[in-house]
Amino acid sequence: KTIYVLNGPNLNLLGKRQPEIYGHDTLEDVERLCVAACAEGFTIRLLQSNWEGQIIDWIHEARDDGAGIVINPAALTHTSVAVLDALSAFDGPVIEVHISNVHKREAFRHHSYVSARADGVIAGLGIDGYPAAVKRVCKLAS
Ligand code: DQA
Repeated sequence: KTIYVLNGPNLNLLGKRQPEIYGHDTLEDVERLCVAACAEGFTIRLLQSNWEGQIIDWIHEARDDGAGIVINPAALTHTSVAVLDALSAFDGPVIEVHISNVHKREAFRHHSYVSARADGVIAGLGIDGYPAAVKRVCKLAS
């Protein structure tokens, strides 16, 4: 059973871009935490793209073999009805993760299109939000 951990635009630069906001840990560190948090019988498929269409294609792939989705849509959170629609076509559990506390930041980050489909939302826990989300998805998918 595969848990998709999807990451949107600019998260390839995690650890390098705006470390005062996003910290110094990288997406490899995120992957390590997710693998460690993953329940027995589940495997982690961590992916990142700067392209909205690629994120949507991966959500479609999850319809075939995904037990659940953890997604940090990054800036697409605040812009993308298409990512929301793709997630709405997925039947399993979905948890939305943000590294920073988006509610403490600019007003345009306060609204998420994705939250309308998410079973849970985590913001402001740094990269610790990812393993928490993985644990929850494993529980919901068991
Ligand atoms: C983010 C928050 C978004 O507002 C921002 O566009 C990102 C990352 C976060 O993880 O805190 O790229 O999703």
